[in-house]
Amino acid sequence: MIKIGNVELKGRVLLGPMAGITSLAYREFMKPFGVALSFSEMISDCGIAYENKRTYDYLKTSETDSPVALQLFGFDIKNTSKAIEIIQNTAKYDILDMNLGCPVHKVTKTGAGSSWLRDVDALKTYMTEVCKISSKPVTAKIRLGWDGKSINVFEVSHALEEAGVQGITIHCRTKEQGYSGKADYQAIRGLKKELRIPLFVSGDIFTLDDAIKSVNETEADGVMVARGGVGNPKLVTQIDTYFQTGEWVENATVKEQVEYARTYAYKLIDSKGEEMAMRELKGILPHFFSGFPGYKKFRLSITMNMSSIKDMEAIFHGIEREIGLSAS
Ligand SMILES: Cc1cc2nc3c(=O)[nH]c(=O)nc-3n(C[C@H](O)[C@H](O)[C@H](O)COP(=O)(O)O)c2cc1C
Repeated sequence: MIKIGNVELKGRVLLGPMAGITSLAYREFMKPFGVALSFSEMISDCGIAYENKRTYDYLKTSETDSPVALQLFGFDIKNTSKAIEIIQNTAKYDILDMNLGCPVHKVTKTGAGSSWLRDVDALKTYMTEVCKISSKPVTAKIRLGWDGKSINVFEVSHALEEAGVQGITIHCRTKEQGYSGKADYQAIRGLKKELRIPLFVSGDIFTLDDAIKSVNETEADGVMVARGGVGNPKLVTQIDTYFQTGEWVENATVKEQVEYARTYAYKLIDSKGEEMAMRELKGILPHFFSGFPGYKKFRLSITMNMSSIKDMEAIFHGIEREIGLSAS
């Protein structure tokens, strides 16, 4: 069993943080598919330290959601420590995850996210302080390095372990790559043997085969599913089941996909209200029906014509008619 500090994980599949997607509703929806640990969207330490109301919304968790990591990003220990103090007093969570891999300019220009990978000494000092302040186990999410010429993932991982970090997830791309090219699992081959803490691999896990390959090549303790699980929650079940029992679970049918899409949609509507949920669902629901030949018209309908629950149900009924589930 994997342990992150005092937190025991029931499996080896983590649900990766995704800004704009991994809200409490998404995490609650995904959990029963076999998620061992979920991550919040990244949260600005300044937003918390300066009591921004919208930032506080990101701190919502629930019992179903547990174990969950709240992920912070920051550049200055003063703000970070104030934010940690506040979340310790106001939020229910199991692990504090530090974002050291975000490639977005708005974040890196402040010195946060993957910017930390450029100064390992400063990173170690910062993370030592974070680990000292945090009453929860601290994990970190990193990339291979800033760019292809400065890959320093081994050095950074050792520095993080020495700082007191209790688990590391590596997105096997550089900051410069963003999301382009392929995740390079080979780049962290051998690292697991050098670390005492759990190691998780992230990047391009879209199928069970990808998960098996990533773990075989890296010997990581587990995998983090991010984009691959959006619209394909059963991917988590397929990976979790294989890791636990060696069994292969079939891909989801269209009928199952409609069920999953509905469940998720109503969870999001409950949590954010119809109008805001519809805006988010336009981006997410089409993923549930990609990979099925002939479903382009439904995907387009979601993106172009869906602005209410009524519209959404009309589209779902259309799909159900297509597969012979509904007579009308
Ligand atoms: C829309 C989007 C938002 C993301 N937001 C975050 C984030 O807030 N924090 C973080 O550490 N990683 C974030 N990531 C990175 C993912 O957690 C993951 O490491 C990355 O997508 C690679 O995995 P994948 O190829 O399996 O999606 C984000 C990725 C995407 C696509």
